[in-house]
Amino acid sequence: MPPYYLTTPIYYVNDAPHIGTAYTTVNADALARWHRMLGDDVTFMTGTDEHGAKIVEAAEANGTTPQEWTDRTAARFVEAWDRLDISYDDFIRTTEPRHHTVVQQFLQKVYDNGYIELGVYRGLYCVACEDYYTEEQLIDGKCPVHGRAVVEMQEENYFFTLSKFEQPLLEYYEAHPDFVRPASKRNEALGFIRGGLRDVSITRTSFQWGVPVPWDSAHVFYVWYDALINYLTVAGYGGDPDVFAARWSAAHHLIGKDILKFHCVWWPAMCLAAGLEPPAEIFVHGYLLLGGQKLGKTMIAAGVTGTGAEARTLKPGDVSPLALADEFGVDPLRYHLLRDVPLGADGDFSFEGIVARYNSDLANNLGNLLSRVATVVGSKCGGVGPACDAEASLGAVAAEVVAATAHAWANWAPHEALEHTWRLIGAANAELEAAEPWKMEPGPAVDQVLGNALEVLRIVSMLIVPAMPTTAAEVWRRIGLEGDPANARVPGEAAWGGYPGGVPVTKGDPLFPRRKD
Ligand code: MSP
Repeated sequence: MPPYYLTTPIYYVNDAPHIGTAYTTVNADALARWHRMLGDDVTFMTGTDEHGAKIVEAAEANGTTPQEWTDRTAARFVEAWDRLDISYDDFIRTTEPRHHTVVQQFLQKVYDNGYIELGVYRGLYCVACEDYYTEEQLIDGKCPVHGRAVVEMQEENYFFTLSKFEQPLLEYYEAHPDFVRPASKRNEALGFIRGGLRDVSITRTSFQWGVPVPWDSAHVFYVWYDALINYLTVAGYGGDPDVFAARWSAAHHLIGKDILKFHCVWWPAMCLAAGLEPPAEIFVHGYLLLGGQKLGKTMIAAGVTGTGAEARTLKPGDVSPLALADEFGVDPLRYHLLRDVPLGADGDFSFEGIVARYNSDLANNLGNLLSRVATVVGSKCGGVGPACDAEASLGAVAAEVVAATAHAWANWAPHEALEHTWRLIGAANAELEAAEPWKMEPGPAVDQVLGNALEVLRIVSMLIVPAMPTTAAEVWRRIGLEGDPANARVPGEAAWGGYPGGVPVTKGDPLFPRRKD
């Protein structure tokens, strides 16, 4: 089984999970699920980034200690991802001893290799970003990201000699054209490198909430320098060399565009400095925006609260994925996040969007196909699903859709994968409408139409596992199949002709009752 190691960013625990972090996590989960169905040996990780001044600040603001605060917030992430059916194999918290060990081992190696030096740092620091800014980068003297005041800091710091990696990074990018995708983000990273790299201060003495520097106990590592290394901790750095080598050679990072510089510039340079090959691939997605939406009545009813008045423009941080899951169901929420925003571009999240998608794709197409087929199998075939026709013309559509879906997943394009899958659902609905088996007398002609529609549902169940694992299993069960479609292997088992026939088809409640709002 080829290894496939997939990571999300590890999220800061100064904030609760929100629709933006859910967007990344659901996309990564869908990819992980697809790769499991391909038969890959998947390690899928997510986790929380728990060190740094920002966490100390958040803990103080909440009248508690950093440890208590991180325990509490990390638990909220675990709870949220469990609720959203995120199938992580490992959840890392950077305060874990296993991570401290790896950070120290790795950075000691960089130090021993001569890429860490002592110096004095003076600069303008934004605590919310955990990053320094130059005068020119500020907007009205404030942090360009958070609009909050920056503080002047001077520290004796250790520096990572990033400036030495301009050329090696350019060469690495040249030799690995797909290292950063999509191409627009690769160009952004290259532009950054070509613009000149300055050494980066990587330790702090102003607070203790971090991983101690092994060669100088007065310092802790700067949070980003500890956070990035989490990917190595989970890959098993310093443990069994074969396990680590297999995972690391297949490392794929999914990140948002806000953290491109850290992942596409700093991180490969750090790897090179430690004598380690950088990860195989970094895919950078865009931002989910709320398009200037205000908190409306429907949203309040759905439990989206925000913290301000109704009239305030919402930010992604105001929208709880758990409230949305309660309102729409976990699978419809996942489907919306995957289907409506092409990974890579920015996109809008809206209430109207999720309702429209729910009604058109889920209620009218998938839900309708299943309920029609189950009803007519009940009335014309005594509730027993007939076998499909190996030569049916839908078979050619299915083969093309399976190939296109696989291609889309391989290209980090969940929205396309689902679009293709829904073409097959559409084709099956169109055939039913043309044949009108509900008007026909029971017999071979009816059996053939229904058998083919059941075969489409079997294939569709497999193709929707990454997006809607619970729905996929339910469709599978209702068409009389045993086990779980998540355990099927694609594309092999998605080949036309697998529906056995002679099995009971269950007509249950509508999978997706139409919404009126
Ligand atoms: N802790 C760092 C990451 C360290 S990784 C070694 C961090 N954490 S974060 O909590 O701020 O999460 C950032 C990530 O959350 C983004 O890169 C992105 O993946 C996701 N998103 C946060 N808001 C988002 C949107 N509005 N839209 C899409 N993704 C968003 O940065």
